[in-house]
Amino acid sequence: MKYLYVETYGCQMNVADTELLFGVLGKEGYAPTDEPSKADVMLVNTCAVRDNAEQRVIGRLGELKRFKRPGVVLGTVGCMAQRLGQQLLEDVPHVDLVIGPDGYRALPDLIEGALAGDRAADVDFKTWEHYEDIAPQREIGSKAFVTIQRGCDYRCTFCIVPMTRGRERSRKLSDVLAEVESLARRGVSEITLLGQTVNSYNDGERDFADMLYEVGAVAGIRRVRFTSPHPNDFSNRVIEAMAAVPTVCEHVHLPVQSGSSRVLKLMGRKYDREGYLRCVEQLRRSIPDIAISTDIIVGFPGETEAEFLETESLVREVGFDDAFTFKYSQRDGTGAVRLPDQVPEEVKGERLERIISTVREVACSRNMGLIGVKVEVLAEGMARRGELIQSRTRGNKVVLIDGPAELIGSYLTVRLTGTTGATFTGVPTPTGKELAIVG
Ligand code: SAH
Ligand code: F3S
Repeated sequence: MKYLYVETYGCQMNVADTELLFGVLGKEGYAPTDEPSKADVMLVNTCAVRDNAEQRVIGRLGELKRFKRPGVVLGTVGCMAQRLGQQLLEDVPHVDLVIGPDGYRALPDLIEGALAGDRAADVDFKTWEHYEDIAPQREIGSKAFVTIQRGCDYRCTFCIVPMTRGRERSRKLSDVLAEVESLARRGVSEITLLGQTVNSYNDGERDFADMLYEVGAVAGIRRVRFTSPHPNDFSNRVIEAMAAVPTVCEHVHLPVQSGSSRVLKLMGRKYDREGYLRCVEQLRRSIPDIAISTDIIVGFPGETEAEFLETESLVREVGFDDAFTFKYSQRDGTGAVRLPDQVPEEVKGERLERIISTVREVACSRNMGLIGVKVEVLAEGMARRGELIQSRTRGNKVVLIDGPAELIGSYLTVRLTGTTGATFTGVPTPTGKELAIVG
């Protein structure tokens, strides 16, 4: 038996791509392992979005070196691999192969080459590539990620993704549907549809609204999520579909990046503060209880204190339920590198701290308002600490509940009894277990 070990960094699409890597090498007789010491092939699936993500990978590659016995192959795949290509082979001598997100079919060949002493990089874009004939190898539970679109046609000036994942392309809706149906038959009840601007999905005939109607109606699917939409791609049709399809969850992750219209323009986001707020308003009008989370970048080149304060005020005005907050990181080859007035590191750090505390305060006050409310949760697994079960609401809030491990995978109605600000505690209501999902 040959073993494959994969470490995954970055976004959910990388998690889904790792399942694809197991699929590609599963066909070649590789079984998954969690232990690098047992592996015949070790892969690091990388992120290039921020410099610190790349530095971590460089560090990890150094650590994995000690598991490289003769005959063991170490490869780097994903966005950082795509970005650096051949350069990575030159910089890190114990890396045998480098493959970008469109090149995973070449993995068996490159492994064979590596075993014969070749070191190679495959970083060609293949705009047709969807890996349609390769079944991702997943650990089947209640939830699954399904990639419906690859690449990105926006050009946000801070972002490296269009350079690492290439042009936007959508899978055929019928192919996505077949995959979701097969997952549902295997007991999956929650689907997260993935794409860089997932709501711009269009396979030439069907759009994202069609996708929500069809995936949302698959027997056995109780929850449909998607990430990440772009504010400009929320057509009325898509918002109507979100409101009309009962399985589509009342949560949207809607990256805003900044609350200043001037900064948004420099970022090339193609909406201004008012446009974003209009999008939020439309979503709330159609889906009144919708939870909204976001991504925020602080310290973009030229961002003044006053403009940073506009981001803070937007956080309060929208009342985000959660936010991922980042310090701007310069990426070679992106438009923003050339912008004047790069913000000093200390200023970025200080703004990051302030935005984190504003987000916490706003999220906490929203969450306090939910105490006493009854909600449906999916019991997802054991909580990291203690004996409690970690469950999640349709609004994507984490709720810790007391109960036997057998509840995992089932949907319950719970009353929210307390919150730490971010996560909740809850107790099952007297009706208790509502519906067991059979695996
Ligand atoms: N459209 C993609 C975005 C991928 S990058 C998606 O949402 O799926 C994820 C987030 O990382 C972005 O929303 C942005 O907030 C952040 N990000 C991207 N490039 C960055 C950079 N150069 N510096 C800091 N944060 C960045
Ligand atoms: Fe990046 Fe903007 Fe596309 S954040 S992934 S260029 S929508």
